Amino acid sequence: MTQMKTPEPNPPNQTTTKPFDFSTFPTLNTQRLHLRQIVPGDAHAIFKLRSDYEVTKYNIGPAYTRLSQAQRLVKSVSDAYNNHRELRWAIALRTDLTLIGMVGFNYWDRIDNRGSIGFDLRRDYWRRGIMREAVTAVLDFAFTRMALNRIEADTSSHNAASVGLLQNLGFQQEGIQREQYLEDGIYHDLRLFALLKREWQKNLDTFN
Ligand SMILES: CC(C)(COP(=O)(O)OP(=O)(O)OC[C@H]1O[C@@H](n2cnc3c(N)ncnc32)[C@H](O)[C@@H]1OP(=O)(O)O)[C@@H](O)C(=O)NCCC(=O)NCCS
Repeated sequence: MTQMKTPEPNPPNQTTTKPFDFSTFPTLNTQRLHLRQIVPGDAHAIFKLRSDYEVTKYNIGPAYTRLSQAQRLVKSVSDAYNNHRELRWAIALRTDLTLIGMVGFNYWDRIDNRGSIGFDLRRDYWRRGIMREAVTAVLDFAFTRMALNRIEADTSSHNAASVGLLQNLGFQQEGIQREQYLEDGIYHDLRLFALLKREWQKNLDTFN
């Protein structure tokens, strides 16, 4: 089983702890990455990302076959942000602002202070620590500026990369929904993970 690793040396790039209220999009910078708002000009890059079956094959849905699907996604992400429902970042390198992945919250429950995180990255960037760096910045933002107490994630038990990343970041598995969904003729078990704010804080304290 993958062990939790040392958190990024300097995850917080926050200059403020002011509660996030959707008034200004929260751009985040890390050592190598620039996490920014998704804009209509990203449609081609999103199509490139989501037309790759290897990226979408677990729980993102069928690979895109038309640019209009990426354009629709940009619109729905933008509408959800404007309606204060959803927050999703484009992941870009600081040296080249082209979208290479996405990370964000599929929901944000303001009563119980919990949200559900999702992420995907272009295959030619896998295994360079990019998503770990991006998610670390997003977790830091979520636990400080969104006041989340619990961040949930779920993934197919076949998705070794996603399971490995979540475990690496200190997420705990809480259960498995057996044969929860059908994709490509196979029933997938869904592994349910969560990370609590106090666990995240403890991990930071341990490694700092
Ligand atoms: C999951 C995904 C975002 C990981 O992105 P990534 O940038 O390659 O991951 P990182 O390089 O930051 O990996 C960080 C850690 O996660 C774990 N990990 C990443 N890929 C892994 C793999 N293929 N197998 C096992 N563990 C893996 C490792 O612990 C890794 O640390 P290490 O490289 O020091 O061993 C990427 O594989 C992806 O986009 N997959 C398709 C989309 C997807 O499945 N999204 C999740 C849907 S629930």
